[in-house]
Amino acid sequence: MEITPSPTPPKKANPKPTDAMEAELSKLGNNLVTKFHVLMRISQIYDSKNVALNQFINEFLETINTLIKRSGVLSLKIVREDFYLNDQRLRYSVEGFTSFKYLSTQWKKRLIGEVIFKNVVGEEMLRHFIYAFINLEEGHDENADLLKKQLESHQITTIDVNPLEIVEGEEEAFTLQKEDHREVGKKIFFETIGTIKDVITNIKGNQHADIRKLKRLAQKAIHLVIEDESILLGMTMIKNYDEYTFNHSVNVSIYALAIGKRLGFSKKILTELGITALLHDIGKSKIPREILNKPARLSTEEWEMMKKHPLMGVEIVLNLKQLGEINPRMVVGVFDHHLMNDLSGYPKLFLKKEVSLFGRIIQIADSYDAMTTPRIYKKIPYTPEQALAIMLREKEVHFDPLLLKIFIGLVGIYPLGSLVLLNTHEIGIVYKSSHDPQWLDRPVVLLVDRDAGGGATKELIDLTDTDKAGNYKWSIVKTLDPYKYHIDIAKYFL
Ligand SMILES: [Fe+2]
Ligand SMILES: [Fe+2]
Repeated sequence: MEITPSPTPPKKANPKPTDAMEAELSKLGNNLVTKFHVLMRISQIYDSKNVALNQFINEFLETINTLIKRSGVLSLKIVREDFYLNDQRLRYSVEGFTSFKYLSTQWKKRLIGEVIFKNVVGEEMLRHFIYAFINLEEGHDENADLLKKQLESHQITTIDVNPLEIVEGEEEAFTLQKEDHREVGKKIFFETIGTIKDVITNIKGNQHADIRKLKRLAQKAIHLVIEDESILLGMTMIKNYDEYTFNHSVNVSIYALAIGKRLGFSKKILTELGITALLHDIGKSKIPREILNKPARLSTEEWEMMKKHPLMGVEIVLNLKQLGEINPRMVVGVFDHHLMNDLSGYPKLFLKKEVSLFGRIIQIADSYDAMTTPRIYKKIPYTPEQALAIMLREKEVHFDPLLLKIFIGLVGIYPLGSLVLLNTHEIGIVYKSSHDPQWLDRPVVLLVDRDAGGGATKELIDLTDTDKAGNYKWSIVKTLDPYKYHIDIAKYFL
């Protein structure tokens, strides 16, 4: 993967927006991107006079004019893979992913990097603008100037555009028609979160849930995990893009699949494992939201309720007819996922039994993801390294020691996403663990260097590299707490 220096990120208009402001702007921004996407798509089908277009034009107008009235001006800009709305980076929602992807591809093809609405816009103006935009020749350097001239010829002065800022090395990246593995990974990741969200919502409302799509996505994920597990493992660092349960289910599934792969499971068993992991907490869909999201300690009754989720999950899975033949492995896996190695945990057993292999795998993946994710009752999570240390302390009592060993081999001694200090005094993020077990302590690291302007320059280094004398060029001295350094680790994995 090509890592290139950052272009100048837009200056922040408001350096410290509150969470509420950020959330509102992000919602409006997602809406804007979605409407822009739909309008561009529709205009490529119909000619500019077609009435079918009216509704989409009006919806888009309403969105932009709301934003203009709110902030006076509206700028939507692409910097690398991100959209910035009035200089604030937009985090995309799960539903918004397709729109972000579409819009960014269309803009980049036409080398347009920014669209500015300086004042309230009218219907005719927008119509001229959107058709002039889609009719630009792909890859033409002068496109921004050409578009400006066309707008001027229609006396449109409230809309302005700027060319795409090309980052060194990025040119080939977006002209490549073939989607690379990382793009495929992102797509699978976000689509799966969206699908599990639909499934949970439907089950909650006692409606039909389409599990077949989940199965297809699990199969796609397996192909990717077999080919290059580091891509999806990296995605598990993206922690807070949606409600906890959806994101968590997908992460647990990625870890479980990577463990299953190392255990040499066949594709069929991997598919079963992937789906079981995706559905492991499905029983929570029957637990009231107030209990799930309670910021304080649960009362005894609430906790008793919470402990029922594995059993409720079993009931739901047994009723999912489209799963076809349900292998008992899957049902037992859901039942077992909170049973510890010494059979403590829950549900309470009346007869001693062995915790199933699926259960033991999911339990490790589940604990690790839960510990490393910010939660409403624990805003600052454990770092990957702290989480592994706790799990190692509890091994044998809580976890299957052999599986835990495999898991550590997977995430590394310095787990993926750890912030580390190197002997060269540089700071980096563990980006990819080494495939070779003898290099567990020498992963691939992404150097993070703050430049004078506050932007980050990035470079990938391999800690197994040596100099001419055979000495390692870099070594990890210790891990650092990303929260203290205000580094958003997830950003580097998108
Ligand atoms: Fe659970
Ligand atoms: Fe869970």
